[in-house]
Amino acid sequence: MKKFTILAIETSCDETAAGVIEAKKTAANFELRVLSNVVASQIEIHKKWGGVYPELASRAHLEAMIPVLEEALEPIGGTKKLADSIDAIAVTVGPGLIGSLLMGVETAQILATYYKKPVVPVNHLEGHIYASFTGKLKNSLKIAKTGIFPVLALIVSGGHTSLVLMEKHLKYKTIGQTLDDAAGEAFDKVARILGLGYPGGPLIEKLAEGGNENAYELPLPMVKQDNYDFSFSGLKTAVLYTTKNPATGKMKKYHKADLAASFQKTVSQILTQKTIRAVKDFKPKTVILSGGVSANSHLRSFFEREIRKITEAQILIPPKNLSTDNAVGIGLVGALKLLKDKKTSWDKIKAQDNFPIDTSTARLRYCRSV
Ligand code: KG4
Ligand code: ZN
Repeated sequence: MKKFTILAIETSCDETAAGVIEAKKTAANFELRVLSNVVASQIEIHKKWGGVYPELASRAHLEAMIPVLEEALEPIGGTKKLADSIDAIAVTVGPGLIGSLLMGVETAQILATYYKKPVVPVNHLEGHIYASFTGKLKNSLKIAKTGIFPVLALIVSGGHTSLVLMEKHLKYKTIGQTLDDAAGEAFDKVARILGLGYPGGPLIEKLAEGGNENAYELPLPMVKQDNYDFSFSGLKTAVLYTTKNPATGKMKKYHKADLAASFQKTVSQILTQKTIRAVKDFKPKTVILSGGVSANSHLRSFFEREIRKITEAQILIPPKNLSTDNAVGIGLVGALKLLKDKKTSWDKIKAQDNFPIDTSTARLRYCRSV
């Protein structure tokens, strides 16, 4: 079986990422190798705005794109070897910030026309799901063609909180999602309330290390409801009202680290309890935790421990550097699509800020901007 080499590009939000993935099919598996994984973060640029500033994000993608591509292509001998060594270009076409997505999509289109390569459009959320297959292996992995389904994937990022069911590769059904804020968005907003900065997730995690997670009792919105949807805005408001009186606006006395730890624990409980409901109902053989918030150590261990109590399913969580946005997940999906001959030409792809992972979702939210 021929081996394919794919260049992947991801620019849906505030990370400019590119990577090269090698892929082949065997009778039972898709075998993949990560040759490179380059991410240029824009955190420093957006920090002072407390969120992603869309125009600055597009401009930063433009500046970072060529150096990121050059570094990603190093293992195959650099840009001059692209024509001989790369079989296709995978790119995130959505969902995300439209100006950011356009930078990646147009780069892929230019490379595809110039080097006469097919392109493989990838949904950002599929990238998050498949990044979890890298597990502890990181650089070479086998993804079984069958026997792992149903897969139940919880995607928790800055723009999304969704439970997605898969009966086969590359086919998704969203069974639940947030009705208001995404989990990452809640981390970012609570970090702002606590005066911590952006992005909130890692800063809350750090502060929570020194806090008592049982100090504050916070609400668990919707966890008792018989569905797989989530809500975080009430939790965020509860944190806000712990810090100041809603009627007078006067600041209250509170312990910052304890509040951060209590909030983090509550988010882990909400996400895990809703996933447990879906595990009981759909009996998946594989349970995935993915997206930027899955970099959170408390969530990783709480989720794994609680899910393990009720199922023997394999539990997949990406390594922390592949929880947040990256091109490896995009490349893995791109490679699988290429192996299934799902490729197209440069003029058939389009950046789509609204791009549901399946057709049943109307309420998905996107990469959050200020
Ligand atoms: O998936 P991602 O990198 O980008 C989007 O697709 O949105 O997720 C970014 C989100 C941000 O809201 C960030 O605060 C959150 O993931 N995040 C975390 C952690 N690291 C990133 N949340 C909690 N704990 C973390 N360690
Ligand atoms: Zn993401």
